[in-house]
Amino acid sequence: MGTEIRKVGVVGLGLMGSGIAQICAMAGLDVIAVEKEQAFLDKGLGRIKGSLAKLVEKGKLSQATQELALAKLTSSTKVADLADCDLVIEAIVEDLGAKSALLKELGGLCKPATIFGSNTSSFPIAAMGEASGRPARMVGLHFFNPVQLMALVEVVRTEQTAADVFEAVKGFAKAVGKQPVMAKDTPGFVVNRLLVPYLGEAIRMLERGDASKEDIDAGMQLGCGHPMGPITLLDYVELDTTLSILQGWADRFPNDPTFKVPQLLRDMVAKGHLGRKSGRGFYEWEGDKKK
Ligand code: 3HC
Repeated sequence: MGTEIRKVGVVGLGLMGSGIAQICAMAGLDVIAVEKEQAFLDKGLGRIKGSLAKLVEKGKLSQATQELALAKLTSSTKVADLADCDLVIEAIVEDLGAKSALLKELGGLCKPATIFGSNTSSFPIAAMGEASGRPARMVGLHFFNPVQLMALVEVVRTEQTAADVFEAVKGFAKAVGKQPVMAKDTPGFVVNRLLVPYLGEAIRMLERGDASKEDIDAGMQLGCGHPMGPITLLDYVELDTTLSILQGWADRFPNDPTFKVPQLLRDMVAKGHLGRKSGRGFYEWEGDKKK
């Protein structure tokens, strides 16, 4: 079966999905972006246009590539329009039920050669492969926020993923300008397995009053050379995202203390202090900038 990837579908145009659609279009691939409601689609497309303009303004992208990307990008509110894609990447809400239902629908309507990728942060890729009815053509494709600037993508192979599918997806990752690292289908793959418990521990330090948020951040920025300290990074990736990852693991592995959810994280999300997108998390934000 064919594994050439020329046309890519992206389902879900939130922060991650819009970044993924954008880099694919910038690489000259045909891209169709799908959201179930026109308003979400418009918001995601607006984000892509804004990001392309910013990259041009900063001299990181030529005007010709900006024009190419806009010409390569189409959109739809219908999943059925993905039928002839070579690769469909889901980047919808972090809910295994919703992701499995989407994969089942895609499995029923896409051409036999379509490869399915999931940008999940934490759920088993094999479960989605089963739902699609085509486990040999399912991979994890986990990008990092902001997708346009972060160089990595984790390519996750399940025990069922076909070897040629895995190779094709590694080639795709390089074609869109990312460095692929290979990961098994384990909780959090490589990066989140290390990063998310670290972020949880930073919240527990705050809870215990061991240090201020500014000092925790300065510690890791200046002591370890991280571009952002953990408390700022929590706001940046958004607190509900980290809560849903940790909660999902806590549900699956209730006896593992690594995955324990800090109470302060629950409280902040319950109050709607979600980080950058709500203007307030541990810090106050104005757009992409900390006040
Ligand atoms: N598109 C275009 N431009 C963007 C952008 C985007 N998506 N996002 C930010 N920019 C722009 C900003 O607007 C800013 O422009 P300005 O200077 O005109 O205001 C500029 O990029 C910032 O670029 P700089 O090179 O000057 O800034 P930095 O060197 O601070 O880099 C950063 C920014 C790349 C975000 C850096 O701070 C960083 O690497 N932070 C850590 C991010 C990280 O760890 N991400 C992983 C999160 S974990 C994850 O995603 C997994 C998930 O499953 C939870």
